[in-house]
Amino acid sequence: MAHNWTPESWKQDRFTAKHLPKYEDAAALAEAEKSLAGFPPLVFAGEARRLKAELAQVAAGEAFLLQGGDCAESFAEFHPDNIRDTFRVILQMAAVLTFASKMPVVKVGRMAGQFAKPRSSDTETKDGMTLPSYFGDNVNGIEFSPESRTNDPQRMVRAYSQAAATLNLLRAFAGGGYANLRQVHQWTLDFMGRSAWASEFKQIADRIGEALDFIEACGVDIEDQQQLKSANFYTSHEALLLPYEQAMTRQDSLTGDWYDTSAHMLWIGDRTRFMDSAHVEFLRGVNNPIGVKCGPSLEPDALVEMLDVLNPSREAGRITLISRFGAGKVEDGLPPLVRAIQREGHPVVWSCDPMHGNVIKAESGYKTRPFDRILSEVRGFFAVHRAEGTHAGGIHVEMTGQDVTECTGGSVAITDAGLADRYHTHCDPRLNAAQSLELAFMLAEMLNLELGEARADAA
Ligand code: PEP
Ligand code: CO
Repeated sequence: MAHNWTPESWKQDRFTAKHLPKYEDAAALAEAEKSLAGFPPLVFAGEARRLKAELAQVAAGEAFLLQGGDCAESFAEFHPDNIRDTFRVILQMAAVLTFASKMPVVKVGRMAGQFAKPRSSDTETKDGMTLPSYFGDNVNGIEFSPESRTNDPQRMVRAYSQAAATLNLLRAFAGGGYANLRQVHQWTLDFMGRSAWASEFKQIADRIGEALDFIEACGVDIEDQQQLKSANFYTSHEALLLPYEQAMTRQDSLTGDWYDTSAHMLWIGDRTRFMDSAHVEFLRGVNNPIGVKCGPSLEPDALVEMLDVLNPSREAGRITLISRFGAGKVEDGLPPLVRAIQREGHPVVWSCDPMHGNVIKAESGYKTRPFDRILSEVRGFFAVHRAEGTHAGGIHVEMTGQDVTECTGGSVAITDAGLADRYHTHCDPRLNAAQSLELAFMLAEMLNLELGEARADAA
């Protein structure tokens, strides 16, 4: 167990807590925390351990991680169809990636708890009025009014129930037959029927179809096979709102270890991953798999020092490093980190977040991410790992199953002027369903290349 750690040791003065909301009414905060601490855990320690074991396989180069979902879940967008559609697209992406990489794909949603947002500015000014920024639906409201922008601890309780209901539906989808591989492939064929880029992806889709035909011709009923009719699906979010995370932290009755039971996997954002950060202190003591966002300002030595704190026993599967440099920057920014980690022998999963380094303000005023830049960062990430001899282990994307218009480009060629049509995100622009699948097909090509090289080396 972590030395000198308690679920509230992050509150000590020697740690710096950034991006945490201030609550004016301490009694109201204490009441919300007490409610949360008495609620059932959302996930079980055994599930977090299973995910860690799967991530250890990724770290060893034997599996691939797919992590995706909303930038910010919201109370307004809470609807079973939204949960279903995002889950469905993640499964479709996973099927394409499994086929291409010939490896298991570990599926983790940015779902069922991804509410709190760090913001570059504490305040926002509109028409001469300055108010606190929006920090996510579990903190305050997005509407620009003094009431809505007031921090309300009861929002954490509402976020918990939304997370519980979301997870309940995800568990039902994952285990109840909805995730059957033949069904997943049929959705992809339906998508191909509408995609302008269908001809580019046809070969992979046809081969997946043939593989399924072959399995069935051998007498295997896909609906009978546990591995083919269900999916392991995990949840994750940024562990930003520490009062919530602390209240959800419990001691596992089997091992005595601490787990943050708000999600299977938690990550530390690029703005809170510094030495002596309260967020690092908190996550040091929970045994879940932990992600660390790695942006351009992260020095290799600081990363190694942080990993010595977060993973002193160098347990494989514990740490996923999620690089987010931006197109054109990953080629120079990532290699020093990869080399430092290799030199120190830390077993990590390398994952690529091609979203957060590629935000631009469109002329229309909307925040967007050009699809081309996203692809370019992914290509750069693969190229770096190929050159360094390390495994390009995963992808971390902000996406939705809805047909939104938030990122420009893709086969439908969303333009700057078209962003206004269906721009629904509560924070950053997400890939829509079509763009997400297009990305998966392009990743498939890169994974094929990696696989080809590995086979050539082995021959
Ligand atoms: C995020 O993942 O939503 C996020 C804020 O990312 P980062 O910490 O990498 O900026
Ligand atoms: Co985001």
